[in-house]
Amino acid sequence: MRAVIAALPGDGVGPEVVAEALTALRAVASAFGHDFIVGEALIGGAAIDATGSPLPAETLGLCRSADAVLLGAVGGPKWDDPGARVRPEQGLLGIRKELGLFANLRPVRPHPALAAASPLRPERLADVDLVVVRELTGGIYFGAKSRGPAPDGRGEVATDVCTYSTQEIERVTRVAGALALRRRGRLTSIDKANVLETSRLWRQTVTRVVREEFPQLELEHLLVDAAAMHLLRRPADFDVIVTENMFGDILTDEASMLAGSIGVLPSASLGDVRPGAAHRFGLFEPIHGSAPDIAGRGLANPVGAILSVAMLLRHALGLEAEARALEAAVDDTLQSGLMTADAAAPGARASSTAEVGAAVAARVAAHSVLVIHSATATCGKGEYV
Ligand code: IPM
Ligand code: MG
Repeated sequence: MRAVIAALPGDGVGPEVVAEALTALRAVASAFGHDFIVGEALIGGAAIDATGSPLPAETLGLCRSADAVLLGAVGGPKWDDPGARVRPEQGLLGIRKELGLFANLRPVRPHPALAAASPLRPERLADVDLVVVRELTGGIYFGAKSRGPAPDGRGEVATDVCTYSTQEIERVTRVAGALALRRRGRLTSIDKANVLETSRLWRQTVTRVVREEFPQLELEHLLVDAAAMHLLRRPADFDVIVTENMFGDILTDEASMLAGSIGVLPSASLGDVRPGAAHRFGLFEPIHGSAPDIAGRGLANPVGAILSVAMLLRHALGLEAEARALEAAVDDTLQSGLMTADAAAPGARASSTAEVGAAVAARVAAHSVLVIHSATATCGKGEYV
């Protein structure tokens, strides 16, 4: 296969983890005989410095013409002035919106080798295998904002408006429902319907779509505060979770602790299937941020970015065997004890970003032979995402 990938390294540790992700992509290309053409472009703070805009037109153009987008991270203290007119995060929110990437899949499947890095007891982590489907282009992130002097002259008033339409809720519910059907058939919808009007529309819409289109699913509704607790109390009960933008942002950082480190979690942000395409268009990025405190020191965990490449292969290109070979290479690498400090057990030897990346790439070729034969079999615990 020939495919064009837009790579947007961004800021902080973004360039380091994207470099390892591209090493993994090249290993897959050579093991399976594909031709991946990678074009790099600026986003976030790096783009502000070079062009004044966090999302330059050339970046958007490259992404639109590509088959998939791979992103590192954006942001950092350099651009953090609360009074600044442009912020790196506008680049990330802008690209999600411009490319119509409304469904953000964030799988959490803890690797046993990282159990010691998790603050939870190992018995709580056994059998955890969940996916959060986070709505990504609506809600309070994209509502009207304002800030100005308070009418009474005392201080200021700031506003962020949260809006959801039936159609926005329906389409993300359909992505989550279809995913749950391919997995264990359980869907948990998370909202704050006891307080928020948007959540009441959310709950009614999810209930209707599931009843009409996915009657086989077992549907559960949880309030977001209770869900935050249940994610730690009974994480193995969850299969697919669907929730709105900000709740999904917060809950996935929490859920990352089930996996031991936020550095190992990938994500896929998917839009509609473009005319003539076989798969949903997507942007793939680790869920961690730019981690400016450790940037440039070879400490960042590249696993989240590498597993995002696996999601890219699966979701954007339909290359299931390749995705599994890469995931198996990551599993093996972690199993062998090779991991960065964030994931290592206290006192254990830690490897550098590049060492982990090289170890994964070296294992891809071996797995390309083993995995291709079992690519159509579903995995034991649930469908890979
Ligand atoms: C994420 C990040 C972003 C978000 C930030 C960087 C804007 O936290 O992808 O989870 O809030 O969506
Ligand atoms: Mg976040």
